[in-house]
Amino acid sequence: MGSSRLQADVGLLRVGMSVAMVAIFVVDLTVPQAWHDAPGALDAPLVFVCAYLVVRFVHLGVYSVAAGRDAGLHRQIAIAWIPVAANAPLHGLGAPAGGCPARYTVLIMRAVQCTRFGGPDVLDLVQVPEPVAGDGQLLVDVVAAGVNFADTSRIAGSYRPVPDLPFIPGTEVVGRTTDGRRVLAPIFGGGGFAERAVVEDADAVVVPDGVGDAEALALLVQGLTAWHLLKSCARMRCGETIVVNAAAGGVGSLAVQLAKHFGAGRVIATASTDARRDLVLSLGADVAVSSEAAGYAERVLDANDGMPVDIVLDSIGGRVFSAGLGILANFGRLITFGNASREGNPPVDPGALADRNTAVMGFWLRPALTVPGTYAEPLAEMFALTAAGVLQPVVDAAYPLADARRAFDDVIARRTTGKVTLRP
Ligand SMILES: NC(=O)c1ccc[n+]([C@@H]2O[C@H](COP(=O)([O-])OP(=O)(O)OC[C@H]3O[C@@H](n4cnc5c(N)ncnc54)[C@H](OP(=O)(O)O)[C@@H]3O)[C@@H](O)[C@H]2O)c1
Repeated sequence: MGSSRLQADVGLLRVGMSVAMVAIFVVDLTVPQAWHDAPGALDAPLVFVCAYLVVRFVHLGVYSVAAGRDAGLHRQIAIAWIPVAANAPLHGLGAPAGGCPARYTVLIMRAVQCTRFGGPDVLDLVQVPEPVAGDGQLLVDVVAAGVNFADTSRIAGSYRPVPDLPFIPGTEVVGRTTDGRRVLAPIFGGGGFAERAVVEDADAVVVPDGVGDAEALALLVQGLTAWHLLKSCARMRCGETIVVNAAAGGVGSLAVQLAKHFGAGRVIATASTDARRDLVLSLGADVAVSSEAAGYAERVLDANDGMPVDIVLDSIGGRVFSAGLGILANFGRLITFGNASREGNPPVDPGALADRNTAVMGFWLRPALTVPGTYAEPLAEMFALTAAGVLQPVVDAAYPLADARRAFDDVIARRTTGKVTLRP
């Protein structure tokens, strides 16, 4: 009698345990995405897997007591792990290369990581935990991330501020929000070369339908730089002569077009090869000359009928910077915003500036964007110009994330024109 009572109780317990396990898996499979996204939340599926295991092993304990022997126990333990193992990939543990189903792309994502400073070979495709959006932030599915020349300095450890290792480069993305908006946003702290990224809600600008992903990216760091060089720094006036150095690059190709649109009298563009000079002429430059430092001043003066120029936009630095200073007209302005030659910054003599009332001004986009009216407004203007076909951002190759090294090799070797992007 006692024994059959025990058998009945154990039987009931085992049925209860089985129901509990089924319930756990039903809840697990229907857990809403919001549970994952809640800031600081425990990973809900993982909690359910643990709960399942606890219940399953209590179940096994009951089974072995009831059986009064351990025959079959090993088989039962093996069976207990099957649903957990089957569930693991869905929870992002060892996510498949093509990515997980949307609901489960929570724990692990593919990203390009820089673990030491150096050339393109320091970039590795890795699997890392996805970032979590905090207050005032958005988690976006990255559609495309922009590569900028400055990224080559960031991974070399020569860009201010020097990032802590390891880090994910990429300071601008076009991404999809969970509510389906296609937004463009800067991420100056990095993190863009990944499947998902966190952006500031206040910086996320919806991309108009008439503007492509790569075009939108061209307008962010590079486009805003070109716009501010001309408008905020040089304060160009109609009819002025403007020299755009490195004009086939991302900033340069937009500076040529914007200068013409804003009413420049003559745009003299420099570029390193015939093909690159043909490109800048097709963008509206009046003359294109070699960007080589030797003979730079003579070539530019020749291109301007022997006359000095009003504005020089220089990102090459070193000898080209010094030569550019020497060809400025009265009240001329040289805006320096880069040092692609890596020749350093030559000293500037204030007395020599006064001789012809010339000015040298530095520009850095990051602090510029802290000034009200410097971000969304010029971006909206350039979106409208692009949608209308007036501005035509030059779009270069889109590289898969796995080819980040090749993308950086091409930028450093001066093989790219316009905007270079990485696609997850
Ligand atoms: N201050 C800021 O806020 C800011 C913002 C954006 C960009 N920038 C700077 O602006 C420049 C252009 O940026 P980007 O993103 O438009 O780059 P990009 O598309 O890669 O263009 C860079 C151009 O610089 C020239 N160049 C590259 N290496 C050179 C070298 N060793 N010596 C001389 N010229 C070289 C190349 O033109 P050619 O081969 O045709 O001569 C190349 O097309 C970079 O120096 C970047 O750091 C500054």
